[in-house]
Amino acid sequence: MAPRYMYEREGQVDFYNRFLPRINPELSIEDILSDYSDGVLNGNLIEFKLNISNLNEHLSQCIKYLSAMRLKGKPVPANILIIGLNSGDAFYYQASEYLSEIEAVYYGGSSKNNKKFIGKNPSRVLHYEEDPLDAENLISLLKQKKYTKIHIDENCIVGWAEFYYNLCPTARKEDFLGDDTGKHKTIGEIRKPRVFSEFIYPYSGSTNIKFNYLMDKLNDTLQKKNLGAFYTPPVYAQKSLELLRIAISRIPAENNDYIILDRCAGTGNLESYMTDEELSHCIVSTVEYYEYKVLMELIGSKVRALIPPVETTDTFNAGLVTGADALSREYIENSIIMEYVNNPKCTIILFENPPYAETTSAEHQRKGHSKQSSTWKGSYAVTEMKKELKGTATNDLGNVFIWSGFHYYLRQPSDSYIVYSPVKYWKVQHMINKKLISGFAFNRRWFHTNTDACIMVALWANEEDINTDAFQITGYDCNGKTNELVEIGLLDVKRIHSSVSSVYYDKRVIQQEYRKGILCGLDGLEKIGGVKRNKPASSPDIIGYMVAHSSGFDNPDLDSSLLVGGRYDGNGFYLHKDNYLEKLPLFCMSRYITYNHGWTERARIMKSADGAARFLRDVSTGKLEQFLLKCLLFTCLEMQNHMRTFWGSDGRFYRNELCLDDTNGPTIASKDIINLKMNSDEKQLISLFKELMENVKKTSEYDAQSTYGVYQIFKEIDTSYVDDVTGKTIWNNEIVHSDLQTLKTMVKSYYNKEIVPVLFEYEFLK
Ligand SMILES: C[S@@+](CC[C@H](N)C(=O)[O-])C[C@H]1O[C@@H](n2cnc3c(N)ncnc32)[C@H](O)[C@@H]1O
Repeated sequence: MAPRYMYEREGQVDFYNRFLPRINPELSIEDILSDYSDGVLNGNLIEFKLNISNLNEHLSQCIKYLSAMRLKGKPVPANILIIGLNSGDAFYYQASEYLSEIEAVYYGGSSKNNKKFIGKNPSRVLHYEEDPLDAENLISLLKQKKYTKIHIDENCIVGWAEFYYNLCPTARKEDFLGDDTGKHKTIGEIRKPRVFSEFIYPYSGSTNIKFNYLMDKLNDTLQKKNLGAFYTPPVYAQKSLELLRIAISRIPAENNDYIILDRCAGTGNLESYMTDEELSHCIVSTVEYYEYKVLMELIGSKVRALIPPVETTDTFNAGLVTGADALSREYIENSIIMEYVNNPKCTIILFENPPYAETTSAEHQRKGHSKQSSTWKGSYAVTEMKKELKGTATNDLGNVFIWSGFHYYLRQPSDSYIVYSPVKYWKVQHMINKKLISGFAFNRRWFHTNTDACIMVALWANEEDINTDAFQITGYDCNGKTNELVEIGLLDVKRIHSSVSSVYYDKRVIQQEYRKGILCGLDGLEKIGGVKRNKPASSPDIIGYMVAHSSGFDNPDLDSSLLVGGRYDGNGFYLHKDNYLEKLPLFCMSRYITYNHGWTERARIMKSADGAARFLRDVSTGKLEQFLLKCLLFTCLEMQNHMRTFWGSDGRFYRNELCLDDTNGPTIASKDIINLKMNSDEKQLISLFKELMENVKKTSEYDAQSTYGVYQIFKEIDTSYVDDVTGKTIWNNEIVHSDLQTLKTMVKSYYNKEIVPVLFEYEFLK
């Protein structure tokens, strides 16, 4: 007999189309497909196979899916159904019989390494295609909404916390994690499940000490906003002890005591590898209540002081610890700490990984965290800091710790501050001018984030140093599997003195008569509606608008634009025919991180105008003529150049002049590029673009009136759809798609070879 189905997806779609109307007609197939398994429907995990080859193997795969669901904080279905599509059989297993296997943690793909698994016989086998009674029984199973209760442990608690805060958006950490110890007794969800009563067994640990390393990830949504807690991984905590020991070695002989102050100790990761002697010099505190309790339990008996020393009935205050907010006046004047600070015979060492929250970052704005949501912004330390410092530095919570650390605690040259933070506070914000003794660069990814970026831990002496303009630190990544340090060599950290926008942006006044036209959105087309914060301009001399904004690379695509009209939200400048070439290195500079996104580059390499005098001189002598043309070639072929050709609503024809499509007459770029003395890579790039254009012209989407750059081709010609049967993406114009892929690869290597070194030479990148 011929098989019913050739493709799994075809069979799956047919199955759902026939069964879903009997289960829940409101559900669509997309609602069911989740987490790379074939689907969860009510309390059933369904795994489809065209043909059943080895039930044990398929069952093992299902168990891994359920394991992943537990880890992600998703209710674990009670039923496992393995469906043989071509034979029309459903094999039913009860997940609870495999609880210990579900509660194990698996690495690698779920479909791999399942051959050795030995399962029990299925509870039932239903021949649903042959037997209408079995089909009806299958429908009953699929309607069941039963779940397998699982145990909460350190592997899965973060997932369940996220699920809990999603379900109960106003819940606080105590509602999830509260225990019966200490003065504040709220028994949390994990110990007395209410919302999760069908999904989890009560957690039997009396305290939260097992979760010490996860307490940052268990914060409720509000705390996440305000506490900026990203814990230090153990290997980095251990490594930075080397800096602490250098700081201790700097204590002058005449001093008879020292303290190590960590005002934001969390659960004490930085202290976890200290010797008892070192711990006996520590004063630690943290503002979050459950961290404070774990900190007390872990090192309370070993440290010199904990703030507050013991819990009282007033200690718990809406999830925070009364008296432990390091940015409050009360804390800054705390008598326990001040006794040491006022003692000239005592050396002060600050050792901290301050909270990280930058309220003006796009990352922050995207998450909908308004500026007002950050309660720390109204703190005493911020108010005092603003009296001394202006500008964006005060928007960064970490900076407030750094500033207040030096300001309130360090008095003698032999005092030290060992601090974890991105280099920006020294590099561009110039918040401190102190002497660097030593430091390391670490990868932010391992601090409970998903971002690869460079975090410096620096040992600063409390000595003025206005001369140092650059230094080197050794970078250490971490091997995620073995948790070992991976040394990657020395990294430069160089100071930046002038910003790109203040020096390089074209600030010539545009006459009122030319202040007309359209504004564009990020997709390169006219922006219709919405808020606009820029003035349009169009004149025979203007060819577009460029944004190459901000010193950092936190939002590379937002901070880098090339458009045919002004960008709706500004932050850039109009490009004029007479000097557009010398502005192109700015666009090239702003693409650096896209092609060099390793952790060592992010948050360390930034944009600068420090080489402007040299650059402009060399432009004027013609020394950089060929380099500017290389920048032009890159600009024409790079995907972030969003210049497009279209008719504006003002009746004007906006033509992309920075592309090499000369079908409808030469563009400014195609005329200028002739002056490039091309090497073989450049010839290849040009011929690839020509070939791409030939193929574009053969497509039905091609508009013969238009002038195409690669982005316009990508948006308008390189279209695709998802095939219903196979679920795969199908490109409408495969050859154009392939050409674009090849072009991307070649443009990247061209950029890194020909453009990047010169950008560093002229300090566009620093
Ligand atoms: C980046 S974490 C570092 C924790 C720990 N020292 C480590 O290295 O893993 C910052 C810690 O500061 C705490 N924190 C945030 N704001 C604070 C404040 N205003 N005063 C005291 N601690 C604060 C957070 O709860 C969090 O535990």
